Amino acid sequence: MPIPKAELHVHIEGTLEPELAFELARRNGITLKHPGVAELREAYSFDDLQSFLHLYYELMDVLRTEADFRDLAAAYLERAAAQGVRHAEIFFDPQAHTTRGVPFETVLNGLNSALEDSEDRYGVSTALILCFLRDHPVDDALATLEAARPHLEHISGVGLDSAEVGHPPGKFAEVFEAAGRLGLRRVAHAGEEGPAAYVREALEVLGAERIDHGIRSLDDPDLVEHLARTQVPLTVCPFSNVRLRAVDTLADHPLRRLMDAGLLVTVNSDDPSYFGGHVHDNYLGVQEHLGLSDEDLRTLARNSFTASFLSPERRAELI
Ligand code: HPA
Ligand code: ZN
Repeated sequence: MPIPKAELHVHIEGTLEPELAFELARRNGITLKHPGVAELREAYSFDDLQSFLHLYYELMDVLRTEADFRDLAAAYLERAAAQGVRHAEIFFDPQAHTTRGVPFETVLNGLNSALEDSEDRYGVSTALILCFLRDHPVDDALATLEAARPHLEHISGVGLDSAEVGHPPGKFAEVFEAAGRLGLRRVAHAGEEGPAAYVREALEVLGAERIDHGIRSLDDPDLVEHLARTQVPLTVCPFSNVRLRAVDTLADHPLRRLMDAGLLVTVNSDDPSYFGGHVHDNYLGVQEHLGLSDEDLRTLARNSFTASFLSPERRAELI
């Protein structure tokens, strides 16, 4: 049985498997560009983050109704449970749907209808993190936060994702400040393809409590020292980094260096349907290719609960 763990970096839209994409396309009368599941899977070969995002946004077109979002989340939760996940903090990208005419409530209600009985059904507690698309205007992020306001009991925090380079975190200072005033937790993707300076900016300007990816932090020794001292967690996604060519191979992955430098590092799947494995597969991959011991995997699993937004009581139950 896979080691019990929390997953803190997974985009629900990135859990859409080709089979479900075709089923939803059929259900909604949509014709996909790809003739079948095998051809679609063959398209899962990426040069960088942008080439992945292109397909990621394209395939979302099949998500139209509450039932679609419910089925997407239920399929993820079932797989996550089988991977040892006991708690999942799940990203969603509302702007990727509202810009296509799918109302914010359709997305949230659909996801929620799977999440609300997840603990009973799958033994997985959940939290939702609303991500702003950093390559869209700040005003759109502000409007998205406004749309979320009546639903804050279902949303734990905000994040920042999509194309990183050229879209520094500081651009979203006002949105993150407003989110903080609403009592939302704050995380941000930084240092995936972008420089270590973006990690600093996410910490200092956005008040990020966790950094998603953050692997480029190693380029800045002072930043590494700061992360080690403050124990601000990194949610690292090894398979994603290799598939999007931020790192050449798993054997070259900086995870071990980050652990050795004393950082609070976690391992996550990011977009498991696109990157060749779920969260436990990532654990096994780094174990094999970086020579991690069973004790190292236990440390990573313990870190995942420590880095979560769970209450200290629930955390203590799970660790
Ligand atoms: N990086 C940025 N945005 C994303 C990612 C990612 O890895 N996955 C989905 N949206
Ligand atoms: Zn991500």
